[in-house]
Order: sequence, then structure tokens, then C-alpha cells
Amino acid sequence: MLIIGFESSCDETGVAVACTERGLLAHALHSQIAMHRDYGGVVPELASRDHIRRIVPLTRQVLDEAGVRPRDLDAVAYTAGPGLAGALLVGAGFARAYAWAQDLPAIPIHHLEGHLLSPLLADEAPDFPFVALLVSGGHTQLMRVDGVGRYELLGETLDDAAGEAFDKSAKLLGLGYPGGPELSRLAQDGDPGAYALPRPMMHSGDLDFSFSGLKTAVLTRMRALQDEGDATGHKARADLAASTEAAIVDVLASKSLQALRRTGLKTLVVAGGVGANRHLRARLTQALDDLGGRAYFPPLQLCTDNGAMIAWAAVQRARAGLIDLQALRGDAAFAV
Ligand code: KG4
Ligand code: ZN
Repeated sequence: MLIIGFESSCDETGVAVACTERGLLAHALHSQIAMHRDYGGVVPELASRDHIRRIVPLTRQVLDEAGVRPRDLDAVAYTAGPGLAGALLVGAGFARAYAWAQDLPAIPIHHLEGHLLSPLLADEAPDFPFVALLVSGGHTQLMRVDGVGRYELLGETLDDAAGEAFDKSAKLLGLGYPGGPELSRLAQDGDPGAYALPRPMMHSGDLDFSFSGLKTAVLTRMRALQDEGDATGHKARADLAASTEAAIVDVLASKSLQALRRTGLKTLVVAGGVGANRHLRARLTQALDDLGGRAYFPPLQLCTDNGAMIAWAAVQRARAGLIDLQALRGDAAFAV
């Protein structure tokens, strides 16, 4: 079965073709990062308009690369949410119109399920059950995953997401958007022990997170540096960046290990944009090694938003028998 998938929930237009037998055949991505950079964050109206511009050429490109004709397709998958409403509407509207025109079923996919199952795209994929740490710009969750569609929420953030903590701290440090990779780059020149920043809720006894206090602590440190006339110094900012990254990574690693202890599992899967963070990867790889288990990450280019994870989630759901293709044909409810 051949499925084309569309992702347009935020600032990336992604299209991919995946096959239930042969896996991912082709994927293409257009990132709007350069367009939003001047504004220091995603401008929803600009995002929607750019999705409109990109989605048709990307679709042609992917079909070409996969060597697939529209009439070869068996289904169309699209990100139904969560995300920016206008941006989602472009992908969902286009996908459903495409499906209707080709008389194909249209499969709505939850964006987070896309992230969650993306590590299964790696050459060495994890077996169920596993604990998943989902860390993106909008979400921070720990889940127990027993199979496709069998997810139990173990804990989540009570305020900011981990990616948001990176992005907001980066902004305070005068860095560009998106802040995570920029902060991480600056942190390479700094000392992670330079500033004692809080590790919110690390010992709260549950598996929830909170990152808003960390942002306030970074703001306070930044103000102190300004008072000392050191706020623009490379070393001082790099030290603060490294200390911030260390605090976020400490909390994420500690809660992930607590989740593994509670569930008795030894497989951890990390997904979402923050999963691209080198320190988080190194820390969790080592920690799981010490446990006699293993940490899995999606291929680096598939950590952030992309169409491959949406096509892939649809393939996984189809393989697991969770999709009623007939019910999703024609006039099925428009689920955004
Ligand atoms: O999953 P994603 O592409 O979009 C959402 O669904 O939110 O995640 C984007 C988030 C942003 O907050 C970005 O700063 C963060 O992932 N991110 C990183 C890194 N690369 C992306 N955070 C820390 N280190 C990175 N290397
Ligand atoms: Zn995402």
C-alpha cells in the first residue's frame, strides 16, 4: 500500500511517500526558518501563505523521486493537529482535496503520533514496549508505548515545553530563531557548571515537568550580567547558554530514567525537535547503556517536523489494522 503524507502544522511544509512493504520511498521538506527569523518567531499568517506556495511543487517533487504516479497511491495522510490553525488548514485542505480528486481515503494523523513513531524509521528500530520522551517546541511528554495506537501518558509539562525553554532562553541571550540549535551552538564555548540554575520538579516524585522557572532564572542571570556590563561578552553568554542547556538536559534525562524505573522498561525512544540536541542524545545513550538497555532516536533530519513521520504513522496504523480505509473515503468528516 502506498501512502502520501503531508505535514504543515507550523513552519515546515513536508511531503513524503511511504509504502507498507518497502518503507519510506521519498520525502521533501521546505523549512520557513529563514522567513520567520527576522521576527524572532513563527508568524502564523506568513506560515500559512508559504505552505500554500510550497505544497504543490513539493508534492510533484516527492512523487517524481518516489517514481510514483498519483493513480498508484492508495491513501493520503495529513497532520490533523495540534498546530497553527491556518497552517494546518493548508495541509488538511490540500490533502483532502487531493484524496477526493483521486478517490482515495484521507487519513488524519495526530502530529505527536507522527513524532512518536518516527524513531521506527531508523535502520535499527526499537521493539515495543518502550518509554517515549516527546520533546518538541510545543510539547514535553513521557509516554508508555505498548504498540501502535496504544499510548499511556505518564507525565507532561505543566507550563513551557522543553523546546520553548530552549527558544525563550535563547531569545534572552540575544540569539536568533529557532533558539534550540543556536543556544546549543553557543553552549559549546561555555562551562555548564558556571551558573547554578534550577532543575524544576526534578525531585517532585511524579513524571511531570515545569520549565517556566528556568526561563525566569535565565532572565535574572542575564540582568545581573547586564548590571556587571558583561551581557555582551562571548564567554559569559556561552557560560549561561551551557548552564541552561545542562539544566534542561538534566531534568529530561532524570525524568526519563524515573519513567523507565517505574515501568520496568529498558528501552527509551526520544522524539521531537529537542531530540536533535547532542547533549541530550549523549546523556541518554550513556544512561541507557549503564542500565543495560538502549536509547533510540529518529534520524537527525527527521527529528524536527517533516512529512515522512506523517506518512510513516499512517503506514504503521494501516499495518496495525487501525485504519478503516472505506470509512475515510469521500464525505468522511473533516477532522482538524
Ligand atoms: O518538533 P519540532 O520541529 O516542532 C514542534 O512540533 O514543536 O521542534 C522544534 C523545537 C524548537 O523549540 C527548537 O528550538 C528545538 O525543537 N530544537 C532543539 C534543537 N533542534 C531543534 N533544541 C535543542 N537542541 C537542538 N539541537
Ligand atoms: Zn513537531
